[in-house]
Amino acid sequence: MDPDRIEALVTARTKAIMVTQLNGRVCDMDRIGAIAAKHGLQVVEDSAQALGGSFGGQRAGTFGAFGAFSFYPSKLLGGFGDGGAVTTGDGKIAEAVYRMRNHGANRQKRLEPTSTIWSTGSRLDNVQAALLNHKFESLPTALARRRQIARTYHAAFEGLPDFGRPPGPDEGNRHFDVFQNYEVDVGVREPLRTHLEQHGVGTIVQWGGAAVHQMSGLGFTQSLPFTERFFTRCFLLPMNHFLSDDDVLHVSTAVRSYYGFDAWKDMAAANPSDLVSEIRR
Ligand SMILES: Cc1ncc(COP(=O)(O)O)c(C=O)c1O
Repeated sequence: MDPDRIEALVTARTKAIMVTQLNGRVCDMDRIGAIAAKHGLQVVEDSAQALGGSFGGQRAGTFGAFGAFSFYPSKLLGGFGDGGAVTTGDGKIAEAVYRMRNHGANRQKRLEPTSTIWSTGSRLDNVQAALLNHKFESLPTALARRRQIARTYHAAFEGLPDFGRPPGPDEGNRHFDVFQNYEVDVGVREPLRTHLEQHGVGTIVQWGGAAVHQMSGLGFTQSLPFTERFFTRCFLLPMNHFLSDDDVLHVSTAVRSYYGFDAWKDMAAANPSDLVSEIRR
């Protein structure tokens, strides 16, 4: 979300700013919070991709009225199926979410009738919760590994023509990015993706290459030229904490070779040897 573009879009009907903390990077929440305060708006965070990420030392999901997280298998904290969580400091919102997840039922099932609103069944079952609790313990290590991989990619892709990299993990000390995805922005997307596929490197275009407003049937009429252009150029490179150093070097070399650059052989060059302080962050 571009804070420079928000105020011009606020109307008398605007109630809230919904921020998406995309790809594991938390937006500039100081500026967004100031705009919200000025116009009397709520802030809510789609933090599905940003568990553990922070801005100015404050974690994703804690800035506004509430934050939403996804435990879909491909997420930073992935379950064996669907799941999610809402974070809030507001008891009324917490109670409303408790009801909405379980057919409108209140938490004290002894009180009858329990359902007070129409809702859906969206409970996190105990088996998923146990698995997620277990994986949660190693989340800091997984995030540190993702940042290590991002640091290597960042160094390996420096200087490639018309090749936009996400900000490096050490750029701008107010952001602590957790790299749910490593999304690049290139002028030669499809030929490059084909080249990578031929070298055994899988890639993904998020959401099938279309932004929400481009999905027919949803009734949007807006034209969003910046977003539309981005969706012709962006794709995801492999990013997961279980990639080996060899995997990361292979991906880096495959990308570089498309542009006629030498192989990338050095995982350590871009990375601090001591990851403990990183993990503690
Ligand atoms: C930014 C963002 N928001 C929301 C969602 C939805 O999460 P879920 O599928 O767990 O409801 C996702 C997951 O794909 C996402 O990436």
